[in-house]
Amino acid sequence: MEAEILKKMKVNKVLTKEEITYMVNGYNDGKIDDKVMSKFLMNIKNNGLSYEEVFYLTDAMIKTGEILSLDKINRTVVDKHSTGGVGDKVTIILSPIIASSGLGIAKMSGRSLGFTGGTIDKLESIPGYKIKLTDKEFINAVNKIGVAVISQTSSLAPADKKIYALRDEIGAVESIPLIASSIMSKKIASGAKAIVLDVKVGNGAFMKNMDDAVKLAKQMVKIGESAGRNTIAVISDMNEPLGYAVGNALEVKEAVDTLKGHGPADLVELCMELGAQMLIASDITHDRNKAYEMLSSVIEDGSAYDKFIEFVKRQGGDISIFDDCKSLKKADYTVVITADKEGYVHHIQSELIGEASMILGGGRQNKEDKIDHYVGVVLSKKVGDAVKEGDAIATIYANDKKKIDDAKALIVKAFDINNQIVDTYTLIKRIISCKNV
Ligand code: URA
Repeated sequence: MEAEILKKMKVNKVLTKEEITYMVNGYNDGKIDDKVMSKFLMNIKNNGLSYEEVFYLTDAMIKTGEILSLDKINRTVVDKHSTGGVGDKVTIILSPIIASSGLGIAKMSGRSLGFTGGTIDKLESIPGYKIKLTDKEFINAVNKIGVAVISQTSSLAPADKKIYALRDEIGAVESIPLIASSIMSKKIASGAKAIVLDVKVGNGAFMKNMDDAVKLAKQMVKIGESAGRNTIAVISDMNEPLGYAVGNALEVKEAVDTLKGHGPADLVELCMELGAQMLIASDITHDRNKAYEMLSSVIEDGSAYDKFIEFVKRQGGDISIFDDCKSLKKADYTVVITADKEGYVHHIQSELIGEASMILGGGRQNKEDKIDHYVGVVLSKKVGDAVKEGDAIATIYANDKKKIDDAKALIVKAFDINNQIVDTYTLIKRIISCKNV
């Protein structure tokens, strides 16, 4: 049958649900080998899929595993997912904010691969934080305090994991239908009734331009809606890292500052918009201004920060490190990088900053690599800022002296400084819901 399927794909014939399910199940069970599956995936990468085919692919991957039942949770559960950016610590900030607003966060997050960080690695920089809970502990935590964040279990959409590994090997990661089905299979299997997607666009993202970002966002929203989940996508800019900190413990510190009401402007703006859309997707309110007020009030009255402490403590994390963040462990070496000319910061290539952090040990080049939680980069300047020659533009946090020069070269390359004033640019590019797909 697989030979017929590949033949059909060659002449651009639409595949049936049975044919797509056959390929996914066959590969998952080991009956279809890497060679045949690679042809199937490369065909999708090169020629795309119709919407129905993307949905069948997503559905087939979901059905290779368990679909979490959140029926025992006494709150409406909402999920949020980012397509991956540099310095993205939004989940750590929004989870307690949303839980303080009365909704449930029963979140399964991933680890970092390459230059984009994973929430689980960031949370593991808190000593003692348990990334695994039993089903019962997970459900109880959400019922009791509204939030639990654990690492993704292998029982959700296992075919996606196997297919993703093959895509990575054969260069088929960057394909809109494959990304849409991969992300949505895990989100739908995770059980939340409402899903908000942060689709990143720019130099540090999978989607480098708006057309592709809109296509990806629309496909994912449609898949979510077809599966009966209220789904909204926010397209946000990734032409500079989010906030100032890039690196696991460094990002946790920035997340804590944000929860205390002292976050960087871009990070706060994105958290507010995604948070508002989470309240809207969960039918808490359909008034965006009201949603903003609700989110602001739980930050201002301290309840969101208190919820963060309660949640970290419940998952075994050492909360004493957050007393003024004084006892947050730091890397051994800090190196300040300065501007070699005067001007305005036009771009900061997020990808290069992410790579610098990865080289220092803050990310993984390969799945097996161990993370150093305490290294990374903290920017001193953002796009639009004026700089004088000799001003600090970033600080490197390193534990291995030998890696500093390479990281420094990448950071210097990432900064585009010239003498033209920068027009302000918008972080939130577009919001896509079922009403405008
Ligand atoms: N994240 C995923 O989970 N899958 C992809 O294909 C890309 C990003």
